[in-house]
Amino acid sequence: MATVDDPEGLAESRSQGPRFQTLRRDAWWRPMLVTIAVLLGFIVYGTWVAFTNENYFVDPYVSPFYSPCLASNCEHATLPVIGDWWTLSPALLILPFPLGFRLTCYYYRKAYYRSFWLSPPACSVVEPHRSYTGETRFPLILQNVHRYFFYLALPFPIILFIDGIRAFFFPDGFGMGLGTLILLTNAVLLGAYTISCHSCRHLCGGHVDVFSRSPLRYRFWQFVSRLNIRHGEIAWVSLFGVALTDVYVRLVATGVISDPRLF
Ligand code: FES
Repeated sequence: MATVDDPEGLAESRSQGPRFQTLRRDAWWRPMLVTIAVLLGFIVYGTWVAFTNENYFVDPYVSPFYSPCLASNCEHATLPVIGDWWTLSPALLILPFPLGFRLTCYYYRKAYYRSFWLSPPACSVVEPHRSYTGETRFPLILQNVHRYFFYLALPFPIILFIDGIRAFFFPDGFGMGLGTLILLTNAVLLGAYTISCHSCRHLCGGHVDVFSRSPLRYRFWQFVSRLNIRHGEIAWVSLFGVALTDVYVRLVATGVISDPRLF
């Protein structure tokens, strides 16, 4: 409470304990808790999906967790470059790449550094750690591999878009189902997430000192920069998009719901 001696209420806010010293009166902890709940929920769901190895394909829909299918034990073998010796879930062959891309994403770093490591928990909230080494030492220095994960993750939205096109071709002929729209939307969202990446922006406009001499790169850079402003929001929406697309394919594959055909 503010008093004559302490007009900003500093003494009271510090009395909350040494861990969260702050003058903030708003619910600064709410985004932190939401981030923890959503990311943990996605990790638990994604792990279950990756290992379950069933109900990820119902012709012509394939879950984004299992595309591209690289092993011959896939229900839907897109590129069966891995032989019979692979007996585990085929999702385990591909998920390290989009997972590494998300884990090292500059936006997600901010989200999980704040929420899980409280470093700091929020703006104007004192962090509990005594020292700060940032990403200059192991293991956080490994975050610098993000630019390489960008190149590894780049084919995924293209492959998922091809899956969306394939989703027009049903066993009984050409058509469009709700699942077709869901797969295409998911591919577009993932494409937006990938293109709005800071590494992509650097790829387009980095090291260009005079934009007038590189008009094409300037145009790409402008386009990516516009998306990049919204990268955080796109990151969340595309994360939900991947999970919901898998849920939809799974529900159709198990017969819990039927896929409405639009034509
Ligand atoms: S994907 Fe988020 S910064 Fe690259």
